Amino acid sequence: MIGVKTEEEIALLRESCRIVKECLEFVGSRIAAGMTTKEVDDLVYQFITASGAEPSCLGYCGYPASACVSVNETVVHGIPDGRVLQNGDIVSVDLCAYKNGFHGDGARTFCIGEVSPEKKKLVKVTEACFFKAIEGLKAGTPLYDIGYNVQKYAESNGFSVIRSYTGHAIGREMHEDPAVPNYGRRGTGPRLPAGCVLCIEPMIAAGGWRVKVLDDGWTAVTLDARPAAHYENTVVVREDGVEILTL
Ligand code: MF3
Ligand code: CO
Repeated sequence: MIGVKTEEEIALLRESCRIVKECLEFVGSRIAAGMTTKEVDDLVYQFITASGAEPSCLGYCGYPASACVSVNETVVHGIPDGRVLQNGDIVSVDLCAYKNGFHGDGARTFCIGEVSPEKKKLVKVTEACFFKAIEGLKAGTPLYDIGYNVQKYAESNGFSVIRSYTGHAIGREMHEDPAVPNYGRRGTGPRLPAGCVLCIEPMIAAGGWRVKVLDDGWTAVTLDARPAAHYENTVVVREDGVEILTL
């Protein structure tokens, strides 16, 4: 069963997601070489709390920060620390805001200074994977068409799709059913109902898709240490398309 939200609930989600969007823009305007990932997290904490929201990630299953800040070969769930951002890094910032009983969720991958052509392409393709996923997406679309479209575009560009992390529905909980994988067979899965709210979040690797989690229990890195990128928006499925809440 895929849950749907009322218009009243969607209005509240819209507000949480607006804060996520604005926070990501704020981080994008500030992030630069020489900053630590902890300083990036501080910006996120300040912005979200100043917006009258709470950072959903802080304390979630013991997670110790407001944002996930994942550099280069870190795919997701990079814990902010004293690591200094360098020219040539790519950095994904993933954050959630909780307000009025609802969570919003979004992620962007930023390029620090001059990055290699491969990293630049990876960031662009990862973002484009999201837009491929929502092309034609509307009520009645089979769930796994999302992953099919992400995978097709990523692999046609020579990249691979991370398997062990997925998108998800969202609402009163940060992670609601169903999971939204970034790979799949066209025409399969339950049909999406109008009013369901999904986080669609391609996680794409320049090399292989295998990952391992470091001893901190969170940080997920590619096994081959090649770079990975992440791009995420929260969307409402509508009768005639999608409404993107974090753009
Ligand atoms: N924002 C992440 C997601 O897309 C959640 C990160 S897990 C946390 O699902 F522990 F950091 F919250
Ligand atoms: Co998410």
